[in-house]
Amino acid sequence: MKKFKFLLAGSLLAIGCMTALIASINEKKEEQTQINSVPKIDRWETKNEEFKKFYPRQYDSWKETKESDDIEDLLKKYPELVVLYAGYGFAKDYNSPRGHFYAVDDNRNTLRTGGPVDGKTGPMPTACWTCKSPDVPRIMAEQGDMEYYTGKWAKYGSDIINPIGCVDCHNPETMELSVNREYLDVGLKAAGEKSLAESSHQDMRSLVCAQCHVEYYFNKTDNGKGGKAAVVTLPWSEGLMVEDMERYFDNMNFKDWTHKISKTPMLKTQHPGWEMWKTGAHGKNNVSCADCHMPYKTEGGIKYTDHKIGNPLDNMETTCMNCHRVSESELLANINEKRKRKDELHKKNMKQIAAAHLEAGKAWELGATEAEMAPILKDIRHAQWRWDYAVASHPAFFHAPEETLRILGSALEKAGNARIKLAKLLAAKGGADYVAPTIDSKEKAQEIIGLPFDKLVEDKKKFSNGLLIEWKKEAEKKGVYNPKSTEGIVDKTSYN
Ligand code: HEC
Ligand code: HEC
Ligand code: HEC
Ligand code: HEC
Repeated sequence: MKKFKFLLAGSLLAIGCMTALIASINEKKEEQTQINSVPKIDRWETKNEEFKKFYPRQYDSWKETKESDDIEDLLKKYPELVVLYAGYGFAKDYNSPRGHFYAVDDNRNTLRTGGPVDGKTGPMPTACWTCKSPDVPRIMAEQGDMEYYTGKWAKYGSDIINPIGCVDCHNPETMELSVNREYLDVGLKAAGEKSLAESSHQDMRSLVCAQCHVEYYFNKTDNGKGGKAAVVTLPWSEGLMVEDMERYFDNMNFKDWTHKISKTPMLKTQHPGWEMWKTGAHGKNNVSCADCHMPYKTEGGIKYTDHKIGNPLDNMETTCMNCHRVSESELLANINEKRKRKDELHKKNMKQIAAAHLEAGKAWELGATEAEMAPILKDIRHAQWRWDYAVASHPAFFHAPEETLRILGSALEKAGNARIKLAKLLAAKGGADYVAPTIDSKEKAQEIIGLPFDKLVEDKKKFSNGLLIEWKKEAEKKGVYNPKSTEGIVDKTSYN
């Protein structure tokens, strides 16, 4: 009898467990069907909150990118940068990247975008919004690419308002991965790479990132209406290596700006992250950006993609450890060694190239001629382009360690060549004893290049307390912005 009771209790318990399990399976099935039978979301719904009710896990983890909110002022960390970028926006304000959640805020807050007072003022073109927001592909689709690329940045203040989100990487009608910016496909074809149509699903797990984490420039183009458009263009038709893009820009005599001190026609590298990744061990094995930056997670038996794009070293067990058999600490030590090797050449380059700019400035002052300066300026142009390429393509030291060191080495050689030529020229002009000033603080460096920092901050504050508030109100009226989405966010900047 006792035995029977025991058996009965056991069976009941088992049945209970089964029922619970079935209920839980059904619940998950329901959730899965919800995902499989894609809910109706408008093709150009750019308000990320609208996706929450259908895709709560992806949305919540996406929103966690806001935890990465530290501002690191690179001009303070490396004051030579101010001299390297003299005459260009990056001498005003330059911070390391933060979470995707802040892309629009940071673009509006940076001193580089200035203090426009209406839709037609300010230093930057519309193209400056291109990698900040899902509203960009929406505007491109609604108004056409040429209209989007025409005019000043402030033209779209009340339209481009939601930070990098779902519609940047997905088509909401199917939730498939989707590249929504035409210039990437144009670039791939120009480079002789697989076009988007020919790319595999695994390729797409990197190509969605390559919409933004690539090298690009603004190509001044006739907009077909008698005006000029600044069109985002990937300089890839000569190839994807640093020398190929350098040749591309040289062939068209392109410059981003003229250096204020050395008068060099300069190139600003953006962030050839995808191109650098391709040259590394992971890129060569097609380990995608998402493999490391968006690992799978499981919650209650449901597997989903973690959308908190950040530093993969924060959860090595779900990223690196999927493929590597060595211990976490060994891998970390390996990475830190790579970082140190890069830092060494990185710092040497900044010192050498900054000195070359200042010495070239002195040579002009002492009456050097254009013909005498031309070969020197060419060396400086190439040195800075290459150094910048290696360090602006965020952690290339990890994504592509050998290529990073190779490029930094060649940059150092070019800077050295410029300085040997400068030493001879300065001696011939009576400036043999000239020693470039040491640059030990951001403030001192901004003084050397004559940058009106306080005025820039003042203009920006007027903008933030005036036009920016109007933009947000208008965006809400247009139905493209939900103020709740940014509630409680404090603006962090390098200047207040
Ligand atoms: C920077 C690009 C990017 C952004 C932004 C992004 N996703 Fe994704 N998403 C991905 C990638 C990559 C995958 C993995 C797709 C694969 O391999 O099938 C993915 C997968 C998904 C999936 C499929 C299920 C899963 O978890 O794998 C859903 C649903 C999804 N994302 C929803 C969203 C939502 C909702 C947002 C906005 C809150 C969003 N995504 C923003 C890149 C992005
Ligand atoms: C629409 C353009 C865009 C797309 C698409 C995009 N990014 Fe970004 N990413 C940015 C911008 C802009 C920033 C800097 C944001 C800031 O500092 O405000 C950034 C920052 C980052 C950071 C730094 C985050 C931090 O917390 O420091 C990482 C990592 C990153 N992106 C990886 C990726 C990966 C991986 C993908 C593809 C799955 C991707 N991004 C897709 C534009 C983009
Ligand atoms: C094998 C793993 C791996 C792959 C693949 C990978 N990354 Fe990373 N990524 C990392 C690690 C690790 C870091 C952090 C390195 C460090 O500590 O600075 C990082 C950092 C970054 C940052 C951070 C920038 C910053 O300074 O905050 C960006 C942006 C980025 N990756 C973009 C990409 C893009 C775009 C791709 C694909 C083209 C990619 N990554 C592919 C591992 C990877
Ligand atoms: C999807 C699999 C995969 C993931 C995830 C992955 N790796 Fe790798 N890793 C590889 C492959 C494949 C190679 C190349 C091995 C070879 O060539 O023998 C490699 C090579 C390396 C190397 C040696 C090559 C070099 O660049 O110095 C290091 C170091 C490394 N991985 C670190 C990491 C770290 C750190 C992470 C996590 C942030 C990571 N890997 C994530 C697959 C992966």
